Amino acid sequence: MFNFEYRNPTKIIFGKGQIATIAKEISPGTKVMLTCGGGSIKANGVHEQTMRALAGCEVIEFGGIEPNPEYETLMRAVELGRKEKVGLLLAAGGGSVLDGTKFIAAAIPFKGDEWDIVRKGAAVESATPLATILTLPATGSESNPFAVISRRGTGEKLAFSSDHCYPKFAVLDPETTYSLPRKQVANGIVDAFMHTMEQYLTFPVHAELNDRFAESILQTLIEVGPKTLADPNDHDARATFVWSATMALNGLIGCGVPQDWATHMIGHELTALYGIDHARTLAAVAPHLYRVCRENKAEKLQQYAKRVWGEESAEAGIRRTEEFFESLGVPTRLARYEGVQADTPALVVSRFEARGERKFGERGIVDLKAVEEILRRSLAA
Ligand code: NZQ
Ligand code: ZN
Repeated sequence: MFNFEYRNPTKIIFGKGQIATIAKEISPGTKVMLTCGGGSIKANGVHEQTMRALAGCEVIEFGGIEPNPEYETLMRAVELGRKEKVGLLLAAGGGSVLDGTKFIAAAIPFKGDEWDIVRKGAAVESATPLATILTLPATGSESNPFAVISRRGTGEKLAFSSDHCYPKFAVLDPETTYSLPRKQVANGIVDAFMHTMEQYLTFPVHAELNDRFAESILQTLIEVGPKTLADPNDHDARATFVWSATMALNGLIGCGVPQDWATHMIGHELTALYGIDHARTLAAVAPHLYRVCRENKAEKLQQYAKRVWGEESAEAGIRRTEEFFESLGVPTRLARYEGVQADTPALVVSRFEARGERKFGERGIVDLKAVEEILRRSLAA
């Protein structure tokens, strides 16, 4: 096992009706800016519950943060936050609203070109405090320091991270997710599955406990994923799914182990190019990546196949993964997504080259030749 440091400061407030309790987490006199997306929180009652809970606070609102949150939109919120001198940003929605709010939090006190936080990884020395009310289990953004921000003008979709961007608290009420369309639930299952795989399917370092943490999340998602998709109102299944998605990317399972993330890096390019939902890009990349990297990942692929699926061969494990994603309605071949051009492999490689990014994955095993091969296979229907 590698050396590691671990700390996750986000307080999790889990379960039915918990939005009602948030006022006690907020110091009296704090001016709150509630951030949200395109209206789902108004339709499903989360907005009303939140405003009721904040009845004693001064609250302003910023809505319209879009899926794959957009820099230009977020900068309007930054201006508003500065003008109004807000003391807490409260993000209510899915990963996009939460990620966008982390950028707003980091940008409000930032001196200089705010895009440098994302493009150049400029040091974030402070941030406006933020908290989250999660309505879409998937990204883990509710209790991690990461955010992925898009800039359509330049066709970029890039991640940043800062310890100042951990939410102070995260409300996870499974009932707030009942209104999700089926497609978003399926996406969430795949995203959480892939976050676990990115921190597990590398090479063995005798991190037995972490391996089993990861395997337990994978097995749980395989068990409850189809259940919660079939019956959104099955509270136990939905609660287990919500908690699994949080645990998949709150830092714990990544302690002391090598990490991959090549699937995510390639996937972000596909979203930037074609607007394909984040989780769907992962499903269209991962199985092909595992085949291309099967020698470097041989031991963990074998362990994954055996322990998670009860299969004897690495290939059978990869095939079961594809079948699982497909059973959720998430295609695992790029050829099945509309608008994807035949020159995508070369295009993605040239975008990475232009940014000076040449190696991904644990030990840099995914070079640009491998990226091209992975996408070529995914395009061959
Ligand atoms: O905008 P609204 O009206 O809120 O509607 C949203 C949006 O249209 C809707 N929605 C959310 N909760 C709902 C709901 N509709 C009905 N009922 C509810 N309870 O769902 C749509 C998609 O929302 P979005 O936030 O975009 O989805 P997701 O949570 O999958 O987030 C995806 C973003 O997160 C980034 C992705 O790259 C992508 O930009 N990621 C963030 C990570 C992180 N912070 O750690 C890691 C991930 O790997 C990922 O990259
Ligand atoms: Zn993801």
